[in-house]
Amino acid sequence: MATPAPTALAHDFPILARDGLVYLDSAATAQKPRAVLDAMEDLLLHHNANVHRGTYPLAVEATDRYEASRERVARFTGSSARETIFTKNVTEAINLVANAWGRANVGPGDAIVLTVMEHHSNIVPWQLLAEATGAHLRYLDVDDDGQLSLDQLDEVLLDRRVRMVAVAHISNVLGTINPLEQIIERSHAAGALTLIDGAQAVPQIPVDVAALGADFYAWTGHKAYGPTGVGVLHGRRELLDAMPPFLGGGSMIRTVERDHSTYAEVPAKFEAGTPPVAEAVGLAAAIDFLDDLGMEHVRAHELDLSAYALEALARVPGLTIHGPREAAARGALISFALAGAHPHDVSEILGRDEICVRAGHHCAQPLMRLLGAPATSRASFAVHNSREDIDRLVEGLGRVNAIFGD
Ligand SMILES: Cc1ncc(COP(=O)(O)O)c(C=O)c1O
Repeated sequence: MATPAPTALAHDFPILARDGLVYLDSAATAQKPRAVLDAMEDLLLHHNANVHRGTYPLAVEATDRYEASRERVARFTGSSARETIFTKNVTEAINLVANAWGRANVGPGDAIVLTVMEHHSNIVPWQLLAEATGAHLRYLDVDDDGQLSLDQLDEVLLDRRVRMVAVAHISNVLGTINPLEQIIERSHAAGALTLIDGAQAVPQIPVDVAALGADFYAWTGHKAYGPTGVGVLHGRRELLDAMPPFLGGGSMIRTVERDHSTYAEVPAKFEAGTPPVAEAVGLAAAIDFLDDLGMEHVRAHELDLSAYALEALARVPGLTIHGPREAAARGALISFALAGAHPHDVSEILGRDEICVRAGHHCAQPLMRLLGAPATSRASFAVHNSREDIDRLVEGLGRVNAIFGD
């Protein structure tokens, strides 16, 4: 059966019935397809109980659905259920690794390598680790085309004390798709592990965690058409087995004595407390939705939109685009500056016509400093967007220019 064109899917998103809405902020959070809302409602209306505890049928149903969601999510990203941990979001997933792996494996004089384009979620946890252990942070630069330098990575890796290279798969500001195969291969050759922040990548391009060979791959449900409150950490089994727990409490233990405890197997070891059951079920429905479309089709559609938008935006007077010039080198998002207009004004004026674009530092202040701006505007594209949405954006920017003049 032929896969439907993604743009025919706008009716699958109830919120898009809102009059005139042009939603171009999916990189911040994606809108939710009806199927996700239905799956969560079904769980809560008909199968709700706490998981991994009760032995009555309702509790077994809830547990089965939660664990089936883990299997579903793992299959989508080329991982396995045993190597898939549900967290609150990607931020918590990275904190889990920085704490549980980091405190056991990083010491004074060791180095963690980051890039200047990282989201704060992939900076601050490592800063906290460095402060606690006496390790230091090294940053890879970004060139004028929004790209990292592999030569610089090689140079940094000459310091044999690098323990971890933590990098975004797709930058949430520049859109750059980073060359993960080379980064992972070179890091491993130097004895370093890798953590990939896949928050933007999983909803936008096909991702196969096993084929990539990343040690840890973290992402977040709400940007992948799932609900807020659920994220995912994939980790190599032997690493997860060897790591101490991150959070302590119920569900993550085998036995608890007065002064010590023994821990459950992975993934339970890293899922303290009642997990996000309905959210995991909703995320699995979002993954079904993406898989039915086919990630190759999703990528092709969003690549078309990005190429169209790059051309259209380049014709707007006073507009500068940040990041790679080629659409093929980017994910489905474009950050830009409009001369004479602050990004918050751009966003507010566009918002008067229900055109939603993000304004701000995008939780990437080190990168903003490199760009020499406190903030940018950012338009991002999803399966439900069309070229007409981009035309509406360009018309709106014309109105912004008319207000701020030349
Ligand atoms: C690349 C990247 N990393 C991390 C995050 C943080 O996501 P969350 O707030 O869901 O943890 C975001 C979202 O803004 C992002 O774009």
